[in-house]
Amino acid sequence: MPEALAHPNIALVKYWGKSDPEKNLPAAESLSLTLASLFTRTSVELRDQPTDSLSIDGREATEKVRARVCRFLDLVAGPSRTRAAMHSTTNFRMSSGLASSASAFAALAVAACAAYGKSLSLRELSILARRGSGSAARSIFGEFVRVRIEQTDQGTEAFAEPITGATIELHAAIALVGASEKEIGSTEGMEHTRATSPYHEAWLRLVARDLARTEVALRQADFATLSEIIEGNALAMHADAMAARPGIIYFEPATLLLIRRIRELRASGLDAAFTIDAGPNVVALARPDQVASVANALAEVPGVVRVLTSGPGKGARLVG
Ligand code: DP6
Repeated sequence: MPEALAHPNIALVKYWGKSDPEKNLPAAESLSLTLASLFTRTSVELRDQPTDSLSIDGREATEKVRARVCRFLDLVAGPSRTRAAMHSTTNFRMSSGLASSASAFAALAVAACAAYGKSLSLRELSILARRGSGSAARSIFGEFVRVRIEQTDQGTEAFAEPITGATIELHAAIALVGASEKEIGSTEGMEHTRATSPYHEAWLRLVARDLARTEVALRQADFATLSEIIEGNALAMHADAMAARPGIIYFEPATLLLIRRIRELRASGLDAAFTIDAGPNVVALARPDQVASVANALAEVPGVVRVLTSGPGKGARLVG
């Protein structure tokens, strides 16, 4: 039975806004780092049964997840396909509240293609994974990854590819913060932002500039420039979401304390920069030999539940 493993990724230049929700096309490109220590493992087995059976971390999938996964399997093998039994586990979702759609759809794309006998190129796999979740396009690849948007004969397409020539190694310290209320998911949050935020066009223009500058800074191992871009890009994404009507605020009090602490650490000489996805957790990017010190400092911040660390991970792959 085919089984695949994929890691989540953390975006240094964020994806926030779609140009086509039906095809799940992003409105702008993005850039990320794949994270080795977190993973999703997913197996897909074809079964002669009337409906798909889907278990996630040992529990039957909710109706919402079920609809999303069945639609995805239809993309792989068509609506009249043989049904499947899917089992998916993560080593982080249950305990951390971290978003898992990137590793989930990257692992599912690889396992489902193997189960249904579809042989895709990495680019095609990335496009497929993107149809499940935009950030999953990036988890097909390892280390630093960039999403590209291109015009093809069939129209606009978006896929990820690895970034070559980076000379800096970054590790991540992921500070988990307890949320006081249920978060607005990224799909819903970015659509609401696109529809109502007066800053959205400016956000999309900023992304193009930040992408070009990030690639140069990665090649030159220029941490000072990287930290300015990474923090500025994350704050601009949140400013865009906050300016929506009604505004979306993902931050908790501890989120702000973590931002302040990471800036203090940088002022004291450590190379650390923060980024924040669609939730209250804060991820510090740091040099490999400094990440433990950064993680220890973040663990002391009031409201932090746990700090995980990770180095760069590989792309999605079959493991069974
Ligand atoms: C804030 O990939 O979860 O993490 O395509 O609707 O599934 P969908 O969105 P998703 O959005 C990720 C948003 C983000 C930024 C990022 O990872 O680039």
